[in-house]
Formats: sequence, structure tokens, C-alpha cells
Amino acid sequence: RVVACGDYAEIGPGLPPGVDILDYRPALVLPGFIDSHVHFAQADIVASHAAGLLAWLQSYTYPAEARLADPAVAMESAEFFVNQMLANGTTMAMVFATVHPQSVDAIFNAAAQRHLCLIAGKVLMDRHAPPELCDTAQIGYEASAMLIDRWHGRDRLYYAVTPRFAPTSSPEQLTLARKLLDEHSGVYLQSHVAENRGEVDWVSELFPWGRSYLDVYDQHGLLGERSLYAHCIHLDNADRQRLAQSGTAVAFCPGANLFLGSGLLDLPAFTELDIALSLGTDVGAGTSLCQLASMRDAYKVGVLQGFNPGPLYYFYLATLGAARALGLDHRLGSFAPGRDADFIVVDMASTALMQRRMQRADSIEERLFALMMLGDDRNIVATHILGECQYLRTVPSPMDFA
Ligand code: GUN
Ligand code: ZN
Repeated sequence: RVVACGDYAEIGPGLPPGVDILDYRPALVLPGFIDSHVHFAQADIVASHAAGLLAWLQSYTYPAEARLADPAVAMESAEFFVNQMLANGTTMAMVFATVHPQSVDAIFNAAAQRHLCLIAGKVLMDRHAPPELCDTAQIGYEASAMLIDRWHGRDRLYYAVTPRFAPTSSPEQLTLARKLLDEHSGVYLQSHVAENRGEVDWVSELFPWGRSYLDVYDQHGLLGERSLYAHCIHLDNADRQRLAQSGTAVAFCPGANLFLGSGLLDLPAFTELDIALSLGTDVGAGTSLCQLASMRDAYKVGVLQGFNPGPLYYFYLATLGAARALGLDHRLGSFAPGRDADFIVVDMASTALMQRRMQRADSIEERLFALMMLGDDRNIVATHILGECQYLRTVPSPMDFA
């Protein structure tokens, strides 16, 4: 845990004798990144070309997820994903598994072995998806309840009830999702909303009584402080008001939104209402597992709309902002005393170009801006979980030869 944070000249002399000192200068030490929306089974199909969300789901995503019926595939995918998280500087994530309960066991086991804090859940689908990926509302409910009993609150792991999105859940399944929240205190809910226009039209056909796509979830009691929705692009003001009032969190996934041509999140409107925002890579629709890529995509979406708060805002979204959105800021997202010591060590000059740029950067804000515009996994020197080093970069950087 973090005991103190400050200038070494001030807090160094107070260290107990014999304590190990790790000197990472000249690298930067940051709270680890939080990826609030990602699908671990989709790493295999990242960067797959399709006409848009619905075609992409059918052509690549569902077939990739179907492979996790095999527990050995699920375990190997989970191991790969968790290692990639650490190599990309992500110390905490909110994760979609697949419809298979063994995929949830696999991701939680992989996280637990590395002492990670992680939220995950079994995908719920009971219609409009390949039959091998659907179960009934009742079976999905029972399997989720069993996984909650097995995992929620164990070590640093939390369960999220995970209806994929309204088109693939019957009203009965959404009702049972709410029942799971009522029956198990503290579990989260995660889903997708209003990502793509075709998807929005489909929802209005399937749920003609809904005022809007978000309203379909609202009428099922699925908004609230432990709920997080990815995308939230095609919403209106009434929807955004509901998000704000209900304390519902949002995963802004700019990489995925640009990749699939879904649209631009209305950042000015979301910040105006103080909606709880976080950043998600949304791999496989996003094309990088590194939150530095999400930050630069978010920045570009912002400036296109005249919203330009500077780099600290985006680092906030990927750390303390996400921790707040998930109600975990008493544990994660900053170096305040008592917080879990999940931190990353960042080489600010991992390429020749970055090294050159950093020589002309005078302030920490300037350096952070260049880092978020140019950075990737090569910048991550080390990733520490609860103080322990769980990842150490082996590739040399130009600085190592300086
Ligand atoms: N909507 C429903 N499922 C998915 C998914 O797997 N990825 C994205 N980006 N959107 C979705
Ligand atoms: Zn997603």
C-alpha cells in the first residue's frame, strides 16, 4: 500500500532502516491505467475489417468468442490478455468474458495469480446471436449467480452482471439481470448502449415501448452507481440527464468508435453534466490495449468538437477518473496514503523521435502531452501490483544507450 508520496528529500529520511529502495529515475511513476471496457476473448480478432458494428460482430467477434467453449482456449486467452494488460501499463480492467462460465473462471484465475484488481462477468445472450453462444434467460441467471458466489469479493475481484446489449437479451433476461443485482449486493453491471445507428434502430424495433435505447435499460432498473455502459454515442439530452441523475458510469471508447465508424462521443455535453466518465480500449473493436492510445483518440474526438482541456484531463480519465466512476477511488487511481500500490514506470523517451521531442519539452504537462500523443507499450518499463513488480520491459530503449 502507499504509505507516503512526495519529494524524496522530505520522505526519504523517514524510511525505516533496511528498506529496499528502487530508483527508477529518470522514468515517470504513475498510478496504473484502468481500462474500463475490454473483451478479453477478442484479442485474436483485433483489427478485423468490416462494414460496421453489426457485420463485425457476425463475421469475426462471435466466431472468436465461440472458441472459448474449450476451457484450454479460455485459459490460454486469459493468460495472454492479462500479460498484455501488464505490458501495456494497465493494472485494473472491467472485462467482458464470453457466454461460457469457464471463460470467467479463466480470467479471474489469471488475474488472481498476479494479485490484480479486476471486474469481469459472463456474457448474457438469449437471442439474435449464434445458438452456440446463447443460453436461456434462466440458465444465464443461474450460471451468473454461481459465478458471483465463486468470485465476487474474493481477493481483489468483483463480478459484473453482463448482458451484452439489448438486441441479444430478451426482456426476461434483462429482468433477471436486475434480479441478480438485487440478490447480490455490490456486484456491478456492464453493457453496451447507443454505439451505432443500425443498432439503435434495431433496439427501437425490438423494444417499441422504450423512449430511447438507454430507456430500455432504465425501465429494467439497470442504471445506477454500479452500472457502466460502453459507448453512449447516439444519446439525447434526456438520456444524458438520466445518466447524470442515476450516477451511471460511462466507458468512452474512442478507439473503437473511430475504428468501426460509430461516431463521436459528445464530450462537451458529458463533462457539462459531470457524468462519471472513464476510458475503455474496447479491444477487439479498439485496436490497442494501451490506454495511451485511448487518450490520444479521446483527445482527437474532443478537439474535433472544440473541447480541449489538455493532457492532465485524459490521464485523469484513465486513472482516478475511472476509479471514481467505478467507486474504487478509496483503493485505486492515486498515490494518496493507504491506496493500493498499483503503479507503472514510464520511459518518456522510448523511441528516437520521443527522445528528440522530450528534449524540447519544458513542463510536465508538455511531456505528458507528447507521451499520450506518441506513446505505446514500448514506454512501459515496469508494472507493479500491490508493490510487487509483475512486469519488467526487456526491450532496450534509446535511453538505455544514452
Ligand atoms: N455491442 C455488442 N457487443 C459488442 C462488442 O463485442 N463490441 C462492441 N464494440 N460493441 C458491441
Ligand atoms: Zn465492447
